[in-house]
Amino acid sequence: MNIQESVAFVSGANRGIGKAYVEALVQAGARRIYAAARSVDTLNDLVAIAPDRIIPIALDVTNPDQVNAAAQQAQDVTLLINNAGVLGAGGLFIANSVDTAQWEMNTNYFGTLSMVRAFAPILQRHGGGAIVNLLSVVSVANAPVFSSYSASKAALNSLTQGIRAELAAQGTQVVGVFPGPVDTAMADGVPGDKAAPSEVAKLTLQAIEKGIDDVYPDPVSQSVFAAIGDPLKAVEKQFAGWMRQ
Ligand SMILES: NC(=O)c1ccc[n+]([C@@H]2O[C@H](COP(=O)([O-])OP(=O)(O)OC[C@H]3O[C@@H](n4cnc5c(N)ncnc54)[C@H](OP(=O)(O)O)[C@@H]3O)[C@@H](O)[C@H]2O)c1
Repeated sequence: MNIQESVAFVSGANRGIGKAYVEALVQAGARRIYAAARSVDTLNDLVAIAPDRIIPIALDVTNPDQVNAAAQQAQDVTLLINNAGVLGAGGLFIANSVDTAQWEMNTNYFGTLSMVRAFAPILQRHGGGAIVNLLSVVSVANAPVFSSYSASKAALNSLTQGIRAELAAQGTQVVGVFPGPVDTAMADGVPGDKAAPSEVAKLTLQAIEKGIDDVYPDPVSQSVFAAIGDPLKAVEKQFAGWMRQ
């Protein structure tokens, strides 16, 4: 996919990695960018960088009416970036841990599933397009400092593989991004070096243009996947083959 010809939609665009995606898309010359946030007021400064190309949209990905309204409004989308996500505090055995796990699963897993279901027919009408899902290094092994978040990102990784196989027939490229810690509010409590959101965005757009499905955008991610990336991909392809038997 050529980013310059794309019409992109970014969820959770008001801050963090989502904001970096919008900025990178502007810089790369995308034709139009729908920037979605729960509160559109939080998008004012971002829209101001390219008011002719950035269209603000109100969207809570856990609200089916808003998901459908966003898809209705953005009928020309060719690149969907599912960036919105949440991470709750506390372990699996504190008082409200089930509520936290449901919130994370509703946002990170079911929210993304709703978005993909709403936008897949739009992408199909425009020749296939591309979907990007924000996964994590904790998609492939649980990080017990945020166990239930890890579980939601593992579910999203599995969903991403399923989407990739099911939408292959309509020519949709499905990209999974697996960052280690990135320098945003979400990773405030995480010690050590953190990748810049702009780097995650830049490498994702490069991967889309090159047709690469799995993005390891920082040294932590690259070290996690150095030994397991290829074997995991082989199993994914083996299981995807069951669809054609
Ligand atoms: N930061 C990291 O270390 C890291 C590492 C790996 C993966 N990721 C993933 O990267 C993505 C972006 O994270 P970030 O680091 O940029 O986090 P962030 O700074 O906390 O931003 C999260 C974004 O998601 C939005 N959001 C949350 N719930 C939403 C909902 N129900 N509907 C719509 N938007 C919602 C937030 O909107 P509000 O402003 O309204 O809250 C905000 O725009 C997430 O999927 C995250 O899991 C992050």
